[in-house]
Amino acid sequence: MAKRSNDPCSTGKFSNEKQNRQTEFSARRQKIAQQRKSLPIASVEKRLIEEVQKNDILIIVGETGSGKTTQIPQFLFGAGFCRDGKVIGITQPRRVAAITVAKRVAEECGVELGQKVGYSVRFDDTTSSSTRIKYMTDGLLLREALLDPYLSKYSVIIVDEAHERTVHTDVLLALLKNVQSARSRSVADDQGVNFGKKIVNAGMSLEKEYGGQSSSFLKKDNHEKYAPLKLIIMSASLDAHTFSEYFGSAKSVHIQGRQFPVDIFYTCHLEEDYLDASLITIFQIHSKEGPGDILVFLTGQEEIESVEKLINNRLTQFPEGSQKLQVVPIFAALPSEQQLQVFAPAPSGFRKVILATNIAETSVTIPGVKYVIDPGFVKARSYDPGKDMESLIIVPTSKSQALQRSGRAGREGPGKCFRLYPESEFEKLEDSTKPEIKRCNLSNVILQLKALGVDDILGFDFIEKPSRILPFLNKFFQVPTNISELFSLGALTDDCQLSDPVGHQMAQLPLDPVYSKALILASQYNCLEDMLITVAMLFVESIFYAPREKQVEARIAIKCFSSPEGDHITLINVYRASNDFLEKRSIEMGKAKIEKAFKKWCKDNFISSRSLRHARDIHRQISVHAEQMGLNLASCGDDMLQYRRCLAASFFLNAAIKQPEGTYRALASGLVVQIHPSSVLFRQKPECIIFNELVQTNSKYVRNVSRIDYLWLTELAPQYYAVKN
Ligand code: CDP
Ligand code: MG
Repeated sequence: MAKRSNDPCSTGKFSNEKQNRQTEFSARRQKIAQQRKSLPIASVEKRLIEEVQKNDILIIVGETGSGKTTQIPQFLFGAGFCRDGKVIGITQPRRVAAITVAKRVAEECGVELGQKVGYSVRFDDTTSSSTRIKYMTDGLLLREALLDPYLSKYSVIIVDEAHERTVHTDVLLALLKNVQSARSRSVADDQGVNFGKKIVNAGMSLEKEYGGQSSSFLKKDNHEKYAPLKLIIMSASLDAHTFSEYFGSAKSVHIQGRQFPVDIFYTCHLEEDYLDASLITIFQIHSKEGPGDILVFLTGQEEIESVEKLINNRLTQFPEGSQKLQVVPIFAALPSEQQLQVFAPAPSGFRKVILATNIAETSVTIPGVKYVIDPGFVKARSYDPGKDMESLIIVPTSKSQALQRSGRAGREGPGKCFRLYPESEFEKLEDSTKPEIKRCNLSNVILQLKALGVDDILGFDFIEKPSRILPFLNKFFQVPTNISELFSLGALTDDCQLSDPVGHQMAQLPLDPVYSKALILASQYNCLEDMLITVAMLFVESIFYAPREKQVEARIAIKCFSSPEGDHITLINVYRASNDFLEKRSIEMGKAKIEKAFKKWCKDNFISSRSLRHARDIHRQISVHAEQMGLNLASCGDDMLQYRRCLAASFFLNAAIKQPEGTYRALASGLVVQIHPSSVLFRQKPECIIFNELVQTNSKYVRNVSRIDYLWLTELAPQYYAVKN
C-alpha cells in the first residue's frame, strides 16, 4: 500500500476514478431530479398536501406512472408528517413493488436504504429505527397490527394499489377504519374532561360516518392517547366511488396523467401456444419496428424463465453483432438486486425485452417501453368452496387489465400493443377482475382476524362481504367443509375462539395455516429441521429447471436427488446436498468464488439457483421464528418414516387415494386428480398420497406429492377421518 501511495501515477489514477464516480453520481442525481420534476404529480404537490391536511381519509386516483407511489410519501415527509419520529407507511399488494419502489425512493432522497427510507416484506426487512418512509406489503401491516393494534408509530398510512382488491387490502381497509376511529376516540376521550357533551357528538358522528357500524374490536379499557391517523387510499382505476362510499363519502382527488395514443393489434385466430406466439412477436417487433423497449406479460416464473431461454437460444443463431436484444425478467421470486435491472436502460444500440408477470401492469412502471405484448392471461387464485380446494389457475385477463397493459406502451410517446388473441375474444372478457376475497380460501385471514381479537367475523365491516364465510360461522348450521380447515387443524375451538397454544402459535408464524401447523407438529415429531426445509422449498415456485431441449439430461440429473417416497424428501435431498456443497467450498474458497461455483453446481444439476437461494434465505428466516417460539429444532436425520408420518399428520386435508384407472380421488373434496408429470412419483403411482398444490390446466394435477400409508390418516387425523369413515 505504502508503495502505491508514493507512486504519482497510481495516485492520479485513483483520484481520477474517484472524480469520475463523483461526476457520474451528480449526473445521475440531476437526472433523477429532472425526472421527478417532470412527473404529472409534481405540479399538484401543494394541493395534495392541503387535501391531506383537511381530510382524515383521502382517495387519490391517478394514472399508472404519474408518480403516486414514489412521490406522495416524499411530499408528506416534506410537509412535516414525520414530526416526533412518526412514520409514513405505504402498503403494496406485491413484494416486488414494495422493494423496488423503496430502493428508488431511497435513491431519490439520496439516502442509504434502511435509513430514512426502507421496506419490510415477509422474510425481508430493511427498516431501522430511523426509517420514516416505510414501504411494505399489505399482509405485513396486518401482521404488525397483531403486535401494535393501534399502529401507533404511523402518522399516515397509504393503502396503495387498492384497485387490485387483494384479500389483504380488503381486510386492511376494514382494520384501518377501526384503528383510525379508535385513535380519534382516544383523543376525543382526552378532551372529554373539559367538553363532556362534545364527546358524545364526536362519537356519534364517527359512528354515523362509518355507516353506523360499531365493529370496533380494539380494547375498550385502553386509556392511552394516540395521535390521529391519516388514511390515504390510492388506486389506478377511475372507480373511486366504491372506496369513497365505504369510507362515508370520503373526498377523492384525481391526478391527470399523460397518455399517448397506443395502436392495438389483434391476431386473426386463436393462438394455440401463447409462449410461442410471444416469441415470434418479439422477433417481429425487433426486426421490423423502430427503437423502443418491449414489455411482455407472462403468468409466472416458469413461463418467464422458459421464454428467456428461448430468446437467448434464438439469438445465438443470429449473425454476430446483429443480436442487440437484452432480456430482463421481473417476477416476485427474483433476488431483489436483479429486480432493479429492469429499470436500467439497455446498453446503447440494444433493445430491452422485459418479461414480466402482471406486476408491471400497475404496480411498477418501467421507463422506455414502447411495445407491449399481451397474451391475455394471468395466474390467479381460485377457490372452490364446495370442495374446499384452492388452486392457482391461468385465466384470461379482464378488460380493465387488458387496457392497463396496453396503456404501458403509451407513457413516453405513441406506442403499440399486440394482443395475442382475436378482437372477438376481447369482447368476451369480464369488465373487471373479481375481488380476491370472493375467490380464495379465507382460513388464513380468519386466523389473523381472530388473533386480532375480531370475534364477530360475520359482522366485520368488509368492503365487500365474502359470502362464503356466512355458513361457516353460524353455529346453527352444520359446518361445511368450507373453512372448517381451521377447526380441523385445531386452530379454533368449538366456540370459534383461537385455541391455546396451537391457534395462537399458528397466528404468530408468517405462513399459511397448514404450514404453520406442520412446523408445530414437526417440533413434536422431532423433525422440525426437515419440515423447515420443506416449507421453505415449497414456498418458491420451482426448484428444478428442465429446458425443453434437455428433458432427458435433466431427468437423469434429478434422479440423483429423487426419493421413492416422493417430492418432499427429494426437495430435502436437494437442500441437504446444497448444504454439503456450500460447507465444503466455504473452507476452500472466498465468497465470490463460492457464488460462481454454486451457480455452476445448480446448472449442472438442473436446479434453478435463483429459487434455491431464495429458499435458503426463507429457511434462515423461518428458523428464527421457530426458535423464538421455543419450538424443538431437531432433525430426524435418516429416519424418514417419522418425517413422512409428520407430513401425513400435517397435510391430511390434501390426501388422495388411487383409483382403478390410475387417477386419484382427493379424499376431502372428492375431486379426481392426477399426479403432475414433474413429480418423482408420476410413474410410480403409489396407493395413497398427500400433496401440497393443485394446478388446473386442461386436467387437474397435484404437485409436491409424497407417498403415505392410508392407515396413518385415521391414526394421525382421527378428528377428520374417523368421522368421515
Ligand atoms: O405510482 P405511480 O404508478 O403513479 O407511479 P410511480 O411508481 O411513482 O412512478 C413514477 C416514475 O418513477 C415512473 O416514471 C417510473 O418509471 C419511475 N421509477 C423508476 O424509474 N424506477 C423505479 N424503481 C420506480 C419508479
Ligand atoms: Mg404506484
